[in-house]
Amino acid sequence: MNDDLDELLTCRLDKRRKQVEPVTLVIFGASGDLTRRKLIPALYHLYLEGQLPEPFRIIGFSRREKTDEIWRQELLQSLQEFSRTQPVELSNWEKFAGCISYQRGDITQDSDFKRLKQRVREAEQSVLAHQLLFYLAISPSQFMHTVSALSRVGLLKHQTQEHGWQRVVVEKPFGHDGPSAQSLNDSLIAFAHEKQIYRIDHYLGKETVQNILVFRFSNAIFETLWNRRSIDHIQITVSESLGVGTRGGYYEESGALRDMVQNHLLQVLSLIAMEPPGSLEDESIRDEKVKLLRSIRLIDPSDVFEQVVRGQYFAGQLHGKTCPAYRQESNVSPTSNVETFVAMRLLIDNWRWAGVPFYLRTGKNLPLSASEVRIQFRPVPNVLFAAQCGQQLDANALTLRLQPDEGIHLRFNGKVPGNSAELKPVKMAFHYDAEFGAYTPEAYERLLLEAMAGDATLFIRRDEVEAAWKIVDPIREAWQGRDLTNKEFYSAGTWGPEASHALLAQNQHAWRTPLSIS
Ligand code: BG6
Repeated sequence: MNDDLDELLTCRLDKRRKQVEPVTLVIFGASGDLTRRKLIPALYHLYLEGQLPEPFRIIGFSRREKTDEIWRQELLQSLQEFSRTQPVELSNWEKFAGCISYQRGDITQDSDFKRLKQRVREAEQSVLAHQLLFYLAISPSQFMHTVSALSRVGLLKHQTQEHGWQRVVVEKPFGHDGPSAQSLNDSLIAFAHEKQIYRIDHYLGKETVQNILVFRFSNAIFETLWNRRSIDHIQITVSESLGVGTRGGYYEESGALRDMVQNHLLQVLSLIAMEPPGSLEDESIRDEKVKLLRSIRLIDPSDVFEQVVRGQYFAGQLHGKTCPAYRQESNVSPTSNVETFVAMRLLIDNWRWAGVPFYLRTGKNLPLSASEVRIQFRPVPNVLFAAQCGQQLDANALTLRLQPDEGIHLRFNGKVPGNSAELKPVKMAFHYDAEFGAYTPEAYERLLLEAMAGDATLFIRRDEVEAAWKIVDPIREAWQGRDLTNKEFYSAGTWGPEASHALLAQNQHAWRTPLSIS
């Protein structure tokens, strides 16, 4: 009976969703890590679930010489390693692999793009010759070469509707600061309309991140409390228990600020703090996110060391293993000043959030991998129980656990049963797994589907990228040329430098260690 009622109450938004359309997906960077670890496993699962459009095909484009068959073999091996479902059924793989082919090509050679065009146009179904999704899984320095060559050979046309459509998916990092992002944007829109450009932040493809808006705007009880009158402060933690590993070369250029804060953390913050959009249309949601990002108070360069803490890990023990110092990782300079940890306090100058600190932290080689948002409510007035218990009386907190052990968790006080008068924080918890089963699609599955459907809600618009750089640029500038001091190092396996705790203590706050929702 209850199950029937729940079914009646399930509200399907899919009617509003755009349909995926037949498409040729061209992956630049076909031999790269992203393709084998993320893109192909995501596409394979979409195929298994019958979610890919019909017809559909994938063309990989890369410098190395290889046949279709060899590329398929390589992809199968990676899939067996990285697939979220195991084992990989060979019969399924073979059916899926039928739509995969490989085109050797150098992005600096127009002749290679002409050959690509020939292959694209040879499609049996003419729709596959004109509905094209170009995925740039290549380094940012190659974006412009690729897009301009696509345009020169006539594969990419500026917002054409006459013969199908073309879209370009761009991976991060999108520029290395505000001016470079702006010039990359200017160059891209010379060849494609903004509506054709899909800038990826894979956090937006995560179920739990998508649920932030559903949670906030489909439940009356929380949204009425979602402001400075009820909320004391908000903590956003994205911690990782791994070091930079083999990505030293990339990380030396990015650091935690560019790698995580400029994109993932600010995206989560904007969804948590934005105003309700006028509709569920992509532009409407993105307008509100940009408005929020622009309301974040820019940190004055002279206040950066007050409001932002940077850190770099040195050798330490983590899960029983000794981790090397960042400066000893491969492709890292032994005198590097690149930050592997950032904690900061941001303020939002708008009516809803004036005076509420937002604390963000992220880092590598921290004690555990967990991403969560903690909404810390104000304490009750100092009467009744609070008068007796003082600081001991816990203030309510709502935790959105983004990963792993996805769920939501509300903490409040209750009386311990028995004759003594004892109060204790207790929690109500919602677990994705318990409620919906252990089905956790990879972020890339959703993002690829949305790009094939032409829905840009989960992608970053030009003004969002630029607004986010404005927030982090002054921080980077203040750090520039300032060597790390001893206090800015932390031992691998700890929660960052001591100053990160002191940052919150200035306002009598404290970081809460992410806890598993159990
Ligand atoms: C990437 C960063 O964007 O996100 C990595 O470049 C980071 O450094 C990764 O490890 C984290 O993503 P996830 O999905 O594992 O939280």
